[in-house]
Amino acid sequence: MRHLIDPLDFTRQETDRLLSLAEEILARPAEYAHACDGKILATLFYEPSTRTRLSFESAMMRLGGKVLGFSSAGSSSAAKGESVADTIRMISGYADIAAMRHFKEGAPYVAARYSHIPVINAGDGGHQHPTQTLTDMLTIRRNRGKISGVTIGLCGDLKFGRTVHSLIKSLVRYEDVSFIFISPEELRVPSYILKEVVIPSGHPWKEVRTMEEVMPELDILYMTRVQRERFFNEEDYVRLKDSYVLTKRKLDLGKQDLAVLHPLPRVNEIAAEVDEDPRAMYFEQARGGVFVRMALILTLLGLAPGVLDHE
Ligand code: NCD
Repeated sequence: MRHLIDPLDFTRQETDRLLSLAEEILARPAEYAHACDGKILATLFYEPSTRTRLSFESAMMRLGGKVLGFSSAGSSSAAKGESVADTIRMISGYADIAAMRHFKEGAPYVAARYSHIPVINAGDGGHQHPTQTLTDMLTIRRNRGKISGVTIGLCGDLKFGRTVHSLIKSLVRYEDVSFIFISPEELRVPSYILKEVVIPSGHPWKEVRTMEEVMPELDILYMTRVQRERFFNEEDYVRLKDSYVLTKRKLDLGKQDLAVLHPLPRVNEIAAEVDEDPRAMYFEQARGGVFVRMALILTLLGLAPGVLDHE
């Protein structure tokens, strides 16, 4: 049985085949409308979410399956002190596959060890968010036809932003990728990501403090929200929250075929005026999240032969 806890749980080839399946579903959704008839997805969300939880639910429903679950720790037995290990052992009898979001780093990994059904990490603390990464990669691929060769600027909260950590881990496996990290000093990309992932990859990278200075170089601008809930004090958040705001004026320094991505939710970091620009891809990106999750559910349930190695 396979789980998806870390983006590297899938090989690059498996990831590429999964993205191809997502594109295939996007092109012909009706052919998959009953692929999961009789199957149940459990969404175990200990931390708030709109897109991720609803897109998992939408994905399972569009496959003909059903969903059950909870959307906050307070409304589950976690409030009574139940461990993740016990919860997943029990859920294994109620559902065929589970998606878990948790405020604690590593919780979905623990769940997978005790689970009898495939577990998907839907975001663990400031750590990883592999299904957002699949969504981001689908968007890049649909936009440029391929992932290799991309120069990507990651902007905002690179310290606490789990989507950034997962995306970097995945992108280093592609050829000719260049990274530009745009953040305030306090929100720099963690040194473990630089030392263990970026530097060993040999890909070019640099860190800058303003988006304007690198805008003309970028193929992809990946904007992120400052992660308020992971700050230790409110003053630091208030001081840093508006470090970067993408306006039409700044966007116009970029290439004509630049694509602006954001995992959403957006707070202030992209001005509403940018939404009308054809380079704003974030709502289309969110839509794509349903199709990658459909592909992922099918794959982990063993209903998409050929995606995983050794199948
Ligand atoms: C992201 C997350 O939860 O990490 N949201 C999402 O899943 N689309 C990004 C964020 O919350 O800023």
